[in-house]
Amino acid sequence: MKYGKTAMKLRVGLYALLSLAFVTVITSSAAFAQENGEPVCIECHAKMPEKYSEPVKLWRGSIHAENGIYCNGCHGGDPKDAVNAMSPARGFLGAPKEPAIPAFCGRCHVGVMNDYLASAHGRMLGKGGPTCVTCHGNHQVVKASLDLINEKSCSRCHSYERAALIRDAMKETETTIVAIDGRISVFKKIGTDTDKLEKELFAVRNSFHSLFHNVNVELVKKESAWIQGDLKKIRVVLDKLDDARQKRKIAGAAVVSLMLLIALVLHLLRKTFD
Ligand code: HEC
Ligand code: HEC
Ligand code: HEC
Ligand code: HEC
Ligand code: HEC
Repeated sequence: MKYGKTAMKLRVGLYALLSLAFVTVITSSAAFAQENGEPVCIECHAKMPEKYSEPVKLWRGSIHAENGIYCNGCHGGDPKDAVNAMSPARGFLGAPKEPAIPAFCGRCHVGVMNDYLASAHGRMLGKGGPTCVTCHGNHQVVKASLDLINEKSCSRCHSYERAALIRDAMKETETTIVAIDGRISVFKKIGTDTDKLEKELFAVRNSFHSLFHNVNVELVKKESAWIQGDLKKIRVVLDKLDDARQKRKIAGAAVVSLMLLIALVLHLLRKTFD
């Protein structure tokens, strides 16, 4: 069926109208995102006395801020409604008391929480054992590393000796992971497909980094042996890539030498003919 002239005009008009509506939605939602980019929690708390504004400053430098976990991610509440922001009816949880902290953080870090709860530390929750914030802090949580195991932090409740044993047991694996990571990025830079290797390392690194929360030296040693085994497999692949690259280098050098030799011979030949 053919369109009549009026039908055609109607269609064009409809498209124009639709485009206009689309543009309006896009621009107004951009404005909306700008206005509502940060939750009302921050707007109000930033202007309050230190006790209530300090968390905003500390949080800004945290791994949670970096990953878009705002105040309401941890404390609940309504991030868009200043009047009812801290209403329990909107899911506001308040500031957790010490024994409630592991469950508070554990809503997102489930695996870590379970390891912690089953550990010597978790069993002493509320009876002198450390909670998540004893070691990580509450608002300025940063990327975790073995540096968290240090004399100052770990000798607050018992001798550092046991802490040092765990640190030593984990140090070797940590060093291997960092070294492998470095080797993979070298291959990535020269264009080798490293997707599979990166994924494998990521998985190994994850299981390794949650290992600590058991605070059980024997378990850490046993699991570290498994993890070292997995790392070795990645290392074998990298060694093969290194070999291949080395061979290519030697072949390249041989070709260059051969060409130089030919050039020299040609040069000498020409000289003798001259
Ligand atoms: C309009 C201002 C305002 C807004 C918006 C606001 N707060 Fe508050 N907040 C306060 C004041 C005032 C207090 C201290 C008095 C109190 O506890 O009610 C407080 C206290 C708190 C406390 C400590 C409670 C305690 O038990 O010690 C937390 C946690 C908190 N706010 C988190 C949030 C979160 C999360 C949001 C956003 C979802 C938010 N606030 C939004 C003003 C605000
Ligand atoms: C990673 C989770 C997390 C995030 C994100 C977070 N908080 Fe907290 N906040 C806590 C914990 C845990 C406590 C309990 C304090 C403690 O015992 O160390 C707390 C306590 C507080 C308190 C009470 C402080 C006091 O001295 O009584 C306020 C106020 C507060 N937070 C406001 C905020 C605001 C505002 C934001 C956003 C900028 C925020 N929090 C983001 C975990 C978080
Ligand atoms: C709303 C979910 C949520 C809550 C609640 C939460 N976190 Fe996180 N946390 C995240 C996300 C998302 C990341 C960044 C991605 C990642 O590294 O897992 C993160 C990262 C971390 C890291 C760094 C992990 C690394 O790879 O080095 C630590 C440590 C951490 N959180 C501790 C805590 C502590 C302690 C609490 C409670 C005070 C808490 N988190 C509460 C979501 C949450
Ligand atoms: C005694 C100190 C201590 C306590 C208590 C503790 N952590 Fe950790 N946490 C560490 C250390 C040390 C590491 C780093 C281990 C590493 O680098 O291999 C770590 C690593 C992490 C990581 C990154 C590893 C991963 O699996 O993503 C997260 C997330 C985390 N902790 C969250 C928590 C939460 C949530 C709690 C409470 C349920 C908690 N931690 C309790 C010391 C502690
Ligand atoms: C707030 C106090 C406190 C802090 C801080 C603390 N611990 Fe502990 N730790 C305990 C308690 C309580 C126990 C269990 C009772 C005991 O064995 O002494 C324990 C036990 C241990 C054990 C023995 C576990 C077992 O199964 O026998 C190790 C290992 C350990 N902690 C390591 C650490 C490390 C590493 C740090 C620092 C990152 C640390 N602790 C920080 C209180 C603490």
